[in-house]
Amino acid sequence: MGIKESELVREFLHNPHTACDLSVAKKQEYRETIKRLLVERDAVLVAHYYTDPELQSLAEESGGCVSDSLEMARFGSRHSASTLIVAGVRFMGETAKILSPEKRVFMPTLEATCSLDIGCPADEFYAFCDQHPDHTVVVYANTSAAVKARADWVVTSSIALKVVEHLSDRGEKILWAPDKHLGQYVADQTGAEMLMWDGACIVHEEFKASGIEKLKHVHPDAAVLVHPESPKAVVEMADVVGSTSQLIAAASELSNETFIVATDRGIFYKLQQAAPGKSFLVAPTGGEGATCRSCAYCPWMAMNSLENLVELLEKSPQSDALISNEIIVESAIANRAVPPLQRMLDFGQKHS
Ligand code: 13P
Ligand code: SF4
Repeated sequence: MGIKESELVREFLHNPHTACDLSVAKKQEYRETIKRLLVERDAVLVAHYYTDPELQSLAEESGGCVSDSLEMARFGSRHSASTLIVAGVRFMGETAKILSPEKRVFMPTLEATCSLDIGCPADEFYAFCDQHPDHTVVVYANTSAAVKARADWVVTSSIALKVVEHLSDRGEKILWAPDKHLGQYVADQTGAEMLMWDGACIVHEEFKASGIEKLKHVHPDAAVLVHPESPKAVVEMADVVGSTSQLIAAASELSNETFIVATDRGIFYKLQQAAPGKSFLVAPTGGEGATCRSCAYCPWMAMNSLENLVELLEKSPQSDALISNEIIVESAIANRAVPPLQRMLDFGQKHS
């Protein structure tokens, strides 16, 4: 169970963190090309808050959406475009495809995955579920389509607390996967009986409570915003714990002028937009003298770039070359993954 360290480090080293620097003129040229091709291909761009701000602003300008993973799922299924371009990580593309099987779904690169997804292989997960048939299976959206297909419920971080509270009130015992930190947070908040899979996000796991404490001494009036994929000691230091959208809302609602933010730094684009004039500091990730692997930067989200988005859109819709960008979910798996996903969307609509 869980991801092998050596595999993870190897993957990480192969992930080009550093998008090559483009001149202002080149960026502008790419942006114009992308906007034109989106219209020509009847496509809409759906981007996550952790992607390059260039992609986030393009999604905004072109009538697409920039959001957390729950809203990405909703937006794609409701939009009239025949093609969805998902800038994010693979599970987001798969969710879009499962909810909109009639649409073609593409990603700038299919290599953009997630440590939670890698750390929860379907065969091991099915065996775990089989050992606990009396538990309601709740899986986090950051998982493969095959794992979702074994679930009773799928949840994202913005809705996990409410769903688990609802199930726990009905007396159900929960089998939770894969993020142990989010699972622990949900269990602590709801008192639910939860059996946990041992997975973690390599980005959020790096945040250090001791570093945040030191930063608080320098900025005593700063509020601490924490994504619940972070370890318990970090969550305990938070003024607000929430999904990416909930953290952005908190930055504009709270009266604080400064915020210490424990999540991927891609979110700073939207934080600054939502609360102009306020200051945002990245929560420390390294311990004393240590080097960090992620530095609040998801290597897989960073694989989405202007360059590979242009490259994707320039391929002809009939081209075989699109095979390396298209999300395909086997229909037997997709059919089984729809009910737990739809349950989440219906629940969200009823309880919003
Ligand atoms: P959100 O659902 O809060 O956008 O989180 C997705 C994610 O991958 C966080 O690391
Ligand atoms: Fe996965 Fe973590 Fe990256 Fe989110 S930040 S996509 S949980 S590895």
